[in-house]
This record gives sequence, C-alpha cells and structure tokens, in this order.
Amino acid sequence: MALSCMQSAPHARVAGSVRRVLLLGLAFGSIGLHAQAVDPGVRAGSIDAGGPLPGMSAGQSKTFALGLATFATARSINGGLPNQPQEGLGPRFNSNSCSSCHSQPAVGGTSPSTTAFPFVGPNPQVAVANLSGATNQIPYFIHADGPVREARFRFVVRNGFLTSKPDGGVHDLFTVTGRVDATNVQGATGSVQTCGLSQPDFDHARRQNNISFRIPTPVFGGGLIESISDKTILDNLAANASAKQAFRISGRPNRNGNDGTITRFGWKAQNATLLLFAGEAYNVEMGVTNELFALERGNPGEMLPVDCLFNATPEDTSHVDPGPDATSPYSDIQLFATFMELLAPPAASTTLPGGAASIQHGEVLFRGTVGCALCHTPTLMASPSPYVNQGSGTAAVNLFSDLLLHDMGDTLADGVSQGLAGPSEFRTAPLWGLGQRVFFLHDGRTSDLVHVIRLHGGSESEARVSAEQFFGLSDSDKQDVLNFLRSL
Ligand code: HEC
Ligand code: HEC
Repeated sequence: MALSCMQSAPHARVAGSVRRVLLLGLAFGSIGLHAQAVDPGVRAGSIDAGGPLPGMSAGQSKTFALGLATFATARSINGGLPNQPQEGLGPRFNSNSCSSCHSQPAVGGTSPSTTAFPFVGPNPQVAVANLSGATNQIPYFIHADGPVREARFRFVVRNGFLTSKPDGGVHDLFTVTGRVDATNVQGATGSVQTCGLSQPDFDHARRQNNISFRIPTPVFGGGLIESISDKTILDNLAANASAKQAFRISGRPNRNGNDGTITRFGWKAQNATLLLFAGEAYNVEMGVTNELFALERGNPGEMLPVDCLFNATPEDTSHVDPGPDATSPYSDIQLFATFMELLAPPAASTTLPGGAASIQHGEVLFRGTVGCALCHTPTLMASPSPYVNQGSGTAAVNLFSDLLLHDMGDTLADGVSQGLAGPSEFRTAPLWGLGQRVFFLHDGRTSDLVHVIRLHGGSESEARVSAEQFFGLSDSDKQDVLNFLRSL
C-alpha cells in the first residue's frame, strides 16, 4: 500500500466522488458496495475491569480496599491549617489524585471521556487547574473532551532558544500558585510565605516543535505483568523467528540501569516495578515526595524557590510508629503498588461487538496472516508470585504484548529517549481492556482503531508490513479484526 495513503487522515479517505456513490448506495439500497470497516467504538454493557484478583484472603481484601481508597483520594498541600497531615500536592503537578488520570472504565484505567461508556466525566485537568483558587492557564493541548496528558520537552531550552541537548523530562502543567493552601505561616518568625511559580511556556514549545505528550496507561492486571520473568520475555523474542523476519519485525527489551533486569511498565517500558512507578508518579504527577523520590521536584533544570516548599520531606512515609489511631503501617506508595498488583486483568467479551463468529475470525486473522500477534503476543506465562499462585490461580497472562520495544518510525516518534528506548521506540502496547478504552497511542492522538493501524504503517516502522496486511484485507475481514479488538 502506498505510503501517502497509509498516512492520510481517516476522514480524508472518503473523497467527494466516493462519498456521492456511498450516498447513492444508501438512497437506492444495496448496489453491491461492501460497507466500509469501522471501529465499533467503546464497548457498552457491563464494566469489565476494576475488580480484585479472585481468591484473595481477608487480609489482602482489606489492603486492596485501602489501596483503592488511597489511589482515589485527591491531595491538597497541607490543608492550609496547622496540624493537618502533610498531603503534599505540588508545588508543580499534573493532577491531584491517581484515579483522576486512571479512571476509564474503572479506577485503575485510563483517561476519562465525556462521551464513552461508562460516563466517567470530562478531563479532570480542566477543573484541577483552578481548584482552590489556583490561577493556572489551561494549556492548548488540554480539552474537556480530550485525553489527560502530560508533557515532555525534547530538547533543553536556554534563554528561549532551543539547544541540541536532550531534555526528555516531564514539564508539569500546573503550579500551586494562588491556591488558598499555598501560603504558610512560619512558626518562629510568624512571617508568611507565598509561593509564586509560573507555568512552562507551552505555546513557545509548540512553536519550536519541542513538545511531546503521553496519556495514562491502564494498571489492571499489574501484578501479573510484574510476574513475567525475563527468560519468558526473551524466549518469546526468539520465537517465530522466520515469520518475524518476513514481517521485518525485530524488537528488544528495555533494561533497568541499576540491576540490568528487563523493565516493562510505561509507554517505553521504562520502569521495572509498580512500586517504582508509584513513587515516581506520586512525585512527578502530583508533587508528593515519598520514600523513593524524597525531594520536591522542579521542572527539568529548575531550582524551586524556598517559598514553595511547604512541608517536611518526604511527605509520604511508612508509619514506623503508627500510634493508636493509625489504620495502616504502609506508606501511600506501598498501598498504590499493592492495589495495582491485586487488580484483576480486564475481562474480554466473547460476543460483543459483532457476535462470536466475527470476533473469533478476527482473532484468527490477528494471530495469523495480519501478523499483529508477532508483537502483540496474546499470552505470556507468569512465574510463581503472590499474584499468580494464591490470587488468580492461573499463570496465563493474556496481555497481548511482548513487553519489548519496537521502532515505530517517524510517524509515531516522540523524540524522547528513556533507558535503552530511543526516540521512535515504544513498548508494544498491551491490548487487554482495549474494548473499553477511549484514547489510543502514547500521545492519545486518536480514538479510532482504523487510524491507529494506519499510523503503524509509517516508513521505517517495524509494524509497516503488518499494517499493509490489514489494509489488504476485504472490508468484512477488516471488520472482524476491529470487532475482535473491541472485544478485548
Ligand atoms: C496527570 C495524570 C496522571 C496521574 C495523576 C497519575 N498518572 Fe499514572 N500514568 C500517567 C501517564 C501519562 C502514564 C504513562 C507514562 C509514561 O509511560 O511515560 C502513566 C502510567 C502509569 C503506570 C504504568 C502502567 C503501565 O503498565 O504502563 C503506573 C503503574 C501508574 N501510572 C501509576 C500511577 C499511580 C500509582 C499514580 C498516583 C500516585 C498515578 N499513576 C498518577 C498519568 C498519570
Ligand atoms: C512491530 C510491532 C507491532 C506490530 C506488528 C503491531 N503493533 Fe500495535 N503497537 C505496537 C506498538 C509499539 C504500539 C505503541 C505505539 C505508540 O503508542 O506510539 C502499538 C499500539 C497499538 C494499539 C494502541 C493501543 C493503546 O494502548 O493505545 C493498537 C490498538 C494496536 N497497536 C493494534 C495493532 C494491530 C491491530 C496490529 C496488526 C494490524 C498491530 N497493532 C501490529 C507494536 C506493534
């Protein structure tokens, strides 16, 4: 298939004359045209994610419930009053709770949407920008009906000019400036400190083509993903060698700079464990310092003014001396990690959308001639772990990912390197739960699965041959693949 066609926008396909023929076809009944394959959209009916692993003990259920509540609690700075717990929001942040970004179709998921089933709500970043008196502007890439986003700058900017030095770090959208709790009376002197911080200049970064976005990934089934051994990932990399060669697919693992093991969480498979991700997200997304990331974080290259440091750090700690009233000895980040580890994977539908026959045929194509499964490995086996043995009772992890990095070409490149992952490499996105997700690809640039597959087909993309195979299918076969994807 020609490259220009592969990269064209989905709506541009129906050129004027074709559209007239389609309209005629509708007006006069069937004139032998096949219906064009379309993404059936978010699967309605039941919410098929968000519960705990089956077979949990009473103690695990209690910790799961506490973890869920902590994941869903919005943070302020310190309540603005003496003796209030150090909640720790900011001074820079992207949102104020884990679940604000991880909520569709249930807590632990991805960006909410104004239109999808179930109705979770608009992008929470719009409301959080001005919550409690904060004076933030809404950046151009945040919309009520669009995805939650975080922003990274590709290169360091000095005095307004782009340098050739890579940045790649997260530049938080918002500051606590103007919030009623962003003032503090210092005990001894009684002097009042007020935090005044400005937001990054996102419009300038846009004009310099220096900005990349990431949307949230779901955390369902996280404990099972953690339980897949490095050997399992490498054996799977070596499997089906001749088919991968024919499709020009390679792939490689990302690795932890500390102990060299294979990392697997995040769009670039940049993090090793859920505890590490929780610690990082608590500080980077919400500005809450913790035992893994203990210091208040400015945006890359920034030294935070002392007037913006309100609490003793780290703000979140284990309760070494829990006292008589404490409900749990755990730190928040331990509770987040445990909650994510005990979350069950999403459940696929066998009949929706399109019926069992269509879904089954779509799966055969996905696994076979179209070659999607050469990267989106349907099942990897977990090794023994607390979440496999006493939890789900099964070791089959149906995540539809090889957890490897693949070069997706310039069309998808974000210009950011993390660990071994280069600017155009991404982890094969796990597809479980896809049927009830709204926004796709690392930056959430589309909600249309046909467009997603089109974007796989850029020049230099390892997925190009597979995308060509898909677009070479008949319309009804394409529809079966799309129905299969939305059944997940
Ligand atoms: C402002 C929105 C936002 C908030 C708040 C947020 N996240 Fe995320 N989360 C993201 C984004 C964006 C990613 C993808 C990051 C990447 O790959 O660079 C992500 C990815 C993750 C992942 C990786 C899952 C996987 O398999 O790839 C985990 C785990 C996670 N977040 C946990 C948390 C926890 C725990 C909290 C609360 C402390 C939290 N997040 C708060 C936006 C958010
Ligand atoms: C070479 C490996 C490879 C092949 C082959 C491949 N994909 Fe992907 N897929 C990826 C990677 C990597 C991503 C993440 C890209 C990004 O976010 O920019 C992805 C993302 C996706 C997503 C978006 C998921 C999300 O979380 O947003 C869907 C849907 C998808 N692929 C479906 C398919 C289908 C259908 C096929 C077969 C036609 C296919 N893929 C073939 C590697 C592959």
